[in-house]
Amino acid sequence: MSTPLDATALQERLLSWFAAGARDLPWRRTRDPYRILVSELMLQQTQVERVIPKYLAFLAAFPTLEDLASAPTAEVIRLWAGLGYNRRAVNLQRAARAVIEEHAGVFPREVAALRRLPGVGPYTAGAVACFAFEQDVAFIDTNIRRVLRRALAGPDQSEPAPSERELLDAGATLVPPGRGWAWNQAIMELGALVCTASAPACRRCPIRAACRAYAAWSAEDEALVLAMGEGGGPAPARAVKRVADRREEPYQGSRRWFRGRLVDALRAQPTGEARPLIELGPLVKAGFLEGDLPWLRDLAAGLARDGLVLLEGDTARLP
Ligand code: ADE
Repeated sequence: MSTPLDATALQERLLSWFAAGARDLPWRRTRDPYRILVSELMLQQTQVERVIPKYLAFLAAFPTLEDLASAPTAEVIRLWAGLGYNRRAVNLQRAARAVIEEHAGVFPREVAALRRLPGVGPYTAGAVACFAFEQDVAFIDTNIRRVLRRALAGPDQSEPAPSERELLDAGATLVPPGRGWAWNQAIMELGALVCTASAPACRRCPIRAACRAYAAWSAEDEALVLAMGEGGGPAPARAVKRVADRREEPYQGSRRWFRGRLVDALRAQPTGEARPLIELGPLVKAGFLEGDLPWLRDLAAGLARDGLVLLEGDTARLP
């Protein structure tokens, strides 16, 4: 993998584009590692627009690491309502408690130490090191992966597909020294707003001159125009099928969906009050019958293993 534009030109273009029009997002106004961690965990599976009000409400309820660490887990899970993937709430609190207990309340700065916090993977560790401590580190999320892949290796389905390692190594060489914070924000912003999965807006892309996918797509478009003859015919359809034909598993009725329904039912309970599974059943599954009880028990046991539910006999509550 290599790039036709030199790295410095590419960096300048992307950074200028970001400086000129970046979204004003609340987590871009802070370097507090606690706030950055909250935002990054929320953003992992949830859209920016949905995260903003939840992020603000969460920090209003738990303004500091200590507030979060000492809160009842049930309260943390309650505040996570609407974000989905509730396990992230439990992980976030576990990480906060680990910072208090194992690091005397001072956030570790290094990627390796951050990675040892519960629920913190390579992406989150890199993001905190960069967005809180302004370290020039490279890391990869969905947006960054897509941008790097297209720019460095070509269209989404092109072969050979670069490995995660290759993308990370190539990405690391692009981080401009001293400007890692802006660089990583910028590349994410490009993936979120311009280099999107299904409809990349290449005409608005500041680094298309350095992009292998753009070069390939343009060549295909040109070939199509030539094949249709000058001037005749309708405007050419894009020669590229821009993916995102991925079939998603139906969410409603999935195990994850039922897990969410059970947690929602428990959120509605007064704090600390357990409720029999037999009463929770109809709130989780329409047409629930007594024969579904073993299934519900199993669902609740899975949530209990993840720290989201306390099972006491055949009753359940938030922890
Ligand atoms: N997704 C994850 N981190 C983000 C950030 N800092 N800005 C925008 N989207 C993000």
